[in-house]
Amino acid sequence: MTAKIINGKVISDFFRSEYKLRVDRLISQGTRPGLAVVIVGDDAASQVYVRNKAKACESIGMYSEVHPLPATTRQAALTAFVEQLNANPNIHGILVQLPLPKGLDDRAVIEAISAKKDVDGFHCANMGALVIDESPYPPCTPYGVMKMLEYEGIPIEGRHAVIIGRSNIVGKPQAMLLLKAGATVTICHSKTQDLPAFCRSADILVAAVGRPNFVKGSWIKPGAVVIDVGINRLPDGKLCGDVDYAEALLAASAITPVPGGVGPMTITMLLGNTLKAAERAAGIAGTTDPGETGLA
Ligand code: GUN
Repeated sequence: MTAKIINGKVISDFFRSEYKLRVDRLISQGTRPGLAVVIVGDDAASQVYVRNKAKACESIGMYSEVHPLPATTRQAALTAFVEQLNANPNIHGILVQLPLPKGLDDRAVIEAISAKKDVDGFHCANMGALVIDESPYPPCTPYGVMKMLEYEGIPIEGRHAVIIGRSNIVGKPQAMLLLKAGATVTICHSKTQDLPAFCRSADILVAAVGRPNFVKGSWIKPGAVVIDVGINRLPDGKLCGDVDYAEALLAASAITPVPGGVGPMTITMLLGNTLKAAERAAGIAGTTDPGETGLA
């Protein structure tokens, strides 16, 4: 079997074209959706991600601003900065790029963001809402994964989904979203015993470990759907995922490539969440789902 390659760029374009119509409509009503991205320190990979987020906003007519702050920024100054953005009516979404440099408390900064502008969906109020299936802003990467599965018509209900990784950004919210969709969910992590055996029982395998080519083809149940969330840079400069792609291609029924798989969807869901925040601020019930507005 050779797996179907799930093209994150094509699916992203589908969502973005509908978002653009909604942005245009909102602008014609006097509101331009705005995203503020805060980046502290000079991590090269984070700088690339942040630039891509800003570019994506502009590509659909949204406003964006990037705030680079020095690595020496103190916690209180960062909190005060976020509070200014909370009070800025032109900003509907705030994203503080993680991880923060050593000495800064990620959680305290996330909690300083207004839950209404927390388009990452990381604030405790939004994380709690996610657990009871009601988050307005599901975290972008796992949300993007769900939208890819939906777009491809991949059945989730009753399937066994195995997630490798228990982070607050991907693993835990991914589990909640898959659970909501009716999957039986297992979360594996660095302390899991016999990880390959868990993986072999997965109908849907989501790898979010941050280790290049970690998941081997022999760990994949024939016909499984493989979602690779990892973006790792190899010594030769090339990007690769957490899954050994060449091996997995022979076992899976469908697989996301790296690059060009989950990555574009993460940014697209950020646009969707920001647009939704702006629509809500303007008194319109927002959605991230194309087709629900009657515009698509
Ligand atoms: N760092 C890696 N992924 C993310 C993300 O989705 N949001 C933020 N804020 N930081 C990240």
